[in-house]
Amino acid sequence: MSQPTIESILQEKRLFRPAEDFSSAAHISSMAQYQALYEQAAADPAAFWAELAEQELDWFQKWDQTLDWQPPFVKWFVGGKLNISYNCLDRHLTTWRRNKAALIWEGEPGDSRTLTYAQLHREVCQMANVLKDLGVKKGDRVGLYMPMIPEAAIAMLACARIGAAHTVIFGGFSADALRDRLNDAEAKVVITADGGFRKDKAVPLKAAVDQALEDNAVPSVAHVLVVQRTQQEVNWQADRDVWWHERQPTASADCPAEPMDSEDLLFILYTSGTTGKPKGVVHTTGGYNLYTHMTLKWAFDIKDTDVYWCTADVGWITGHSYIVYGPLSNGATSLMYEGAPRASNPGCFWDVVEKYGVTIFYTAPTAIRAFIKMGDELPKARDLSSLRLLGTVGEPINPEAWMWYHEVIGGGQCPIVDTWWQTETGGFMLTPLPGATPTKPGSATKPFPGILADVVDLDGNPVGANEGGYLVIKHPWPSMMRTVYGNDERYRKTYWEHIPPQDGQYLYFAGDGARRDEDGYFWVMGRVDDVLNVSGHRLGTMEIESALVSHPAVAEAAVVGRKDELKGEDVFAFVTLEGQYSPSDSLKAELKQHVVKEIGAIARPGDIRFADALPKTRSGKIIRRFLRNLASGEEIVGDATTMEDQSVLDKLREEA
Ligand code: WT7
Repeated sequence: MSQPTIESILQEKRLFRPAEDFSSAAHISSMAQYQALYEQAAADPAAFWAELAEQELDWFQKWDQTLDWQPPFVKWFVGGKLNISYNCLDRHLTTWRRNKAALIWEGEPGDSRTLTYAQLHREVCQMANVLKDLGVKKGDRVGLYMPMIPEAAIAMLACARIGAAHTVIFGGFSADALRDRLNDAEAKVVITADGGFRKDKAVPLKAAVDQALEDNAVPSVAHVLVVQRTQQEVNWQADRDVWWHERQPTASADCPAEPMDSEDLLFILYTSGTTGKPKGVVHTTGGYNLYTHMTLKWAFDIKDTDVYWCTADVGWITGHSYIVYGPLSNGATSLMYEGAPRASNPGCFWDVVEKYGVTIFYTAPTAIRAFIKMGDELPKARDLSSLRLLGTVGEPINPEAWMWYHEVIGGGQCPIVDTWWQTETGGFMLTPLPGATPTKPGSATKPFPGILADVVDLDGNPVGANEGGYLVIKHPWPSMMRTVYGNDERYRKTYWEHIPPQDGQYLYFAGDGARRDEDGYFWVMGRVDDVLNVSGHRLGTMEIESALVSHPAVAEAAVVGRKDELKGEDVFAFVTLEGQYSPSDSLKAELKQHVVKEIGAIARPGDIRFADALPKTRSGKIIRRFLRNLASGEEIVGDATTMEDQSVLDKLREEA
């Protein structure tokens, strides 16, 4: 079983202390130093962040008010003016970093490119001017649907430079999903590529954009800017489509960064929730810049000598915060890789580590479990001795995977930094500081300084040590999401109304279950809502259900997570059919494909079970708990007497 259980966690007593030489060279080098920072921050969070904002970022104009907290709406560094692209680029140009590698990129077919800070700055400025030429103005939204190529980072920074907000849509999402998101954001321009390389195939992207925009389905979009990557055939709409390579190289490289208000919109990133369509998580400029900068610096101990590689896609928050903004704001070298382990080269990740001498490596438990399965020979055949720190994110890491990562990849030498956070939090919330915090396999350890985390019951009362509860954050932090794009009410409902305020203190509800052990270490147990975590990707069960019922054969659908050794969780769907349809393997395949079309391959159900009826309460609510049990082949737990029709369950059980 891949998810840690309460029992296994309670038995986990191993403790790994930071090595002496790591600690002595680290930004934060002892538990005493962490503790002092933590206490200082807890006593006066606003003052703590204000001091760091002054020290670590460049501002065009200083703020008047550090924190304006009108629950649940927050503002940080009110009145301050800055530009994150300036902090990520311009300010390094006057230092020796001018000719330091900002981005090292490796393409899947083996092509590669390195951009120094000066080169990246130039291309960002040029692209910013191209966007202006296409009519993009401060405050507009630009959709990105791109492969993992340097142009993705360039496009993000170019948007930020002129004050346009980007909304990156993961290249694995379908045309339908893309259309919804572009419409919600009312994007003016879409930036894409002809295609991208994925597992030895040239995956089309422009074709999906064409499909999303068909019949003027997204009226806000005036232009599509296309990077040539795979050279595959594309349809062209001359009044709308523009080639990147025909515009960018000849555009002026003179484009001063627009002074942005600290609270100006930086980006929207869509993520799944319990209800309805994916919500546009809103992040603004100043607080996000500061928080991603500080967390990368202290939790990954980033230094000028590091070659830092985060394996995420820029389509997710991890790519935003920890491939682009956090690393570049710190003047670090960030490595971007287009590929994924594949039949033709299952050891490609370790090739990349060896080739570039990667020192910090950040990936997800689902990838680690896949590596374990591929065998120790692959990493052992490469020289991984450059590695000095290993990070993990996306889901609870099972202690076996943690130990393998530590021993086989890290050679027993590297601290493991398990970072718990979310799209909504913008940056790491629970994380070890590697030169300070002793680690326990499976625990994201302690809150970052300035983060007041707790585990509470539904009334908001803290639970005792080793008791399960809900993970909450008790004080706003700089990179907290500001709202759901265009929907303040949904923001309030989703994050602030599950648990009542305590003594006037509002509690941010993360949607995760957790416990804290006797040493104050947090153990995140996974989602407590109807959100699935499939290979570290977040999927709403309701989204998949809506996709299923949009197929003419489907009368009703209920989606639950089934434990999966590699993916952590897999999508399992129960479906009842309209009268004229009958169950068959081909219909099953068709329905799976239908979900891929509606959402994307990441949501493809691992299994679908046809049922005559779904278990419901007398008031007609589907009892998912039972379905989860059935999907995982477990005994039905809990009271079945509230059920409307007992025979439904018996029938489903028989068919298992
Ligand atoms: C959800 C957020 C943050 C970037 C990747 C996912 C789960 C994330 C951990 C971790 C246990 C984790 C939580 C969280 N999660 N990191 N280290 N340990 N669980 O971002 O798509 O917004 O998903 O991922 O359930 O709520 P996301």
